[in-house]
Amino acid sequence: MLSRVGRLAYGGDYNPEQWPEEVWQEDVRLMREAGVTVVSVGIFSWALLEPEPGVHDFGWLDRVIELLHVNGIRVDLGTPTVVPPAWFYAAHPEALPVSREGVRYGFGSRGAICHSSEAYRQAAAGITEQLARRYGSHPAVAMWHVHNEYGVPVSACYCDASVAEFRRWLQIRYGTLGALNQAWGTAFWGQHYTDWAHIDAPRITPTVANPAQQLDFARFTDETIRGNFIAERDILHRLAPGIPVTTNFMTALSQCDSMDYWAWGKAVDVVTNDHYLMTDGRRTHVNLAMAADLTRSVAGGEPWLLLEHSPSGVNWQRRNPAKRPGEMARNSLGHVARGSDGAMFFQWRQSRYGAEKFHSAMLPHAGTDSRVWREVVQLGADIGALAEIADSRTVADAAILWDWQSWWAQKLEWRPSQDNDARERADSFYETLYDRHLTVDFAHPEADLSAYPLVVVPALYLATEAAGRNLLSYVEGGGTLVVSYFSGIVDEHDTVHPGPVPGALRDVLGLTVEEFAPLLDGERVRIEAADGSELAGDLWAEFVVPQGADPVWTYADGPAAGLPAVTRHELGQGTAWYVSTRLGAAELDAVIATAAGDAGIAPRDDLPRDVEVVRRTGEHGSYLFVINHTGTEAKVPVDASGTELLTGERFAGVLAVPPGAVRVVRADG
Ligand code: GAL
Ligand code: ZN
Repeated sequence: MLSRVGRLAYGGDYNPEQWPEEVWQEDVRLMREAGVTVVSVGIFSWALLEPEPGVHDFGWLDRVIELLHVNGIRVDLGTPTVVPPAWFYAAHPEALPVSREGVRYGFGSRGAICHSSEAYRQAAAGITEQLARRYGSHPAVAMWHVHNEYGVPVSACYCDASVAEFRRWLQIRYGTLGALNQAWGTAFWGQHYTDWAHIDAPRITPTVANPAQQLDFARFTDETIRGNFIAERDILHRLAPGIPVTTNFMTALSQCDSMDYWAWGKAVDVVTNDHYLMTDGRRTHVNLAMAADLTRSVAGGEPWLLLEHSPSGVNWQRRNPAKRPGEMARNSLGHVARGSDGAMFFQWRQSRYGAEKFHSAMLPHAGTDSRVWREVVQLGADIGALAEIADSRTVADAAILWDWQSWWAQKLEWRPSQDNDARERADSFYETLYDRHLTVDFAHPEADLSAYPLVVVPALYLATEAAGRNLLSYVEGGGTLVVSYFSGIVDEHDTVHPGPVPGALRDVLGLTVEEFAPLLDGERVRIEAADGSELAGDLWAEFVVPQGADPVWTYADGPAAGLPAVTRHELGQGTAWYVSTRLGAAELDAVIATAAGDAGIAPRDDLPRDVEVVRRTGEHGSYLFVINHTGTEAKVPVDASGTELLTGERFAGVLAVPPGAVRVVRADG
């Protein structure tokens, strides 16, 4: 699917409409110098392409596409439906979305869309049809880029049209009001409904709004937005067959929380992702690896494409550090190692005006006599040298279960501890596996897990009965499972599974939890192993009652003193571990190390910390990516001889990777 954009794609968002046409000539000359193969065009161009309702001006876009084409650069062509023109809103002010507070957003930015607006849907279909008819057979058009980052900056809308559509969605989901009343637990606080017309969006309420209603509204929002994507996709398939359709995801948990990317991954022809480093105190290269692994997983393991990242700093955080020399290449090739068939940026030429003039670009205000430009040119050459890896697959060692819907549910109000954060646990477990040099696939809780020796569940508050059965058969069949606390608690309606918690996971874990005992801010608990070694936990403890599981570590103090803190359950051919408190990095590593032993995973103690080693394999060979995030040379044992693709050098046995460098080796086969 990605072959139309070149073996490996290199390029970025290109916004020629911000520049006089003379500049376009320089753009393509420099694109060629940098080895650019593809650019994303027209993402925000609706107002220029359709200056008045039904009146189109494609002349400038014709010229841009032709210019790129004659220079051998492919086009990832946008449907500009993330920014309807001002005239559209003048005629349809009701298409502006309404916030939960009841405030209608204004025009003058982007993404101000009520996804239930019929007028919006019609207008979006209209411009999409025009583009498909005009450019659908142009040889330069390699991919369709529908919309931009569905789900941000606004996803849910609380207007009348949205509420009406929510009611219709509920009627299809539940069929009868009785079923809805049951699912939403409306017997609680007297919320029983007798007429569909009385149902509203979960508005600002005096105190906590019905959690099942909130969860369904999040699902409705996600599905409605995806429906609008699918409508555009189907037009493009019909009028421009053979050109793959994508929309750029933001899978990083720090960047979008409203889209269920398991479902989105199935809706696109090719998965593409945008990723930006967050300076939130965590190691940025670990966050990047996690987002890349998550993206590959929503693509079902198929090659995907990094459609946007930044050459240097962004401009939307409180402080926006410039990337260090070599960091842009490490970031780019870090995505490639984890399955991206290329690396693209926001954006090609730095804007002089508008909201993003201080966001870095491949071609900065400083021009070509600049560090960023020299690194951009070098990276283009490096990506070119890796062409043969296209279409190969990243090899994973273990899986982490992740479910956006469970995350939505866990984030609702009035939990035993509001500081218990699913994303924090997912980040921390991921980091532990990363530091053990294990490559991770993410999986949906109901997916087939039999390929993985080790499956880790950092936070699965909402787990269906089917998920519970899936994990049971995974362990019985020989898998090793590690589950963190507050998982398996509720079903899809945020209703506690019958009987003691964790209802969905009781059998596989071989235990029940009699009571949660969350800890106060700063409170820690000591945990002792049988051999006398000590661990510590914070935030959470609970009264674990083994029902077949063996205590491995025990609380030495705190509310659950004397009770098991970490347990191990042998079941069938496999083993299920349970961790009932929040462990820090060293403690988590101790548990994961032991579980990895159960899973038969050999430790990689020969690899230095922050030296990332990831394998892709394919028809043409097996490729080992080594990314040295440290300031010292790394010596990496490679059990073979072969060729390093970026330098062309031969190596045997041990690969020396200079500080901050990336190496990609093809072992002699
Ligand atoms: C992305 C967006 C781009 C640009 C970029 C800046 O989320 O798709 O258009 O705004 O952020 O970091
Ligand atoms: Zn609306």
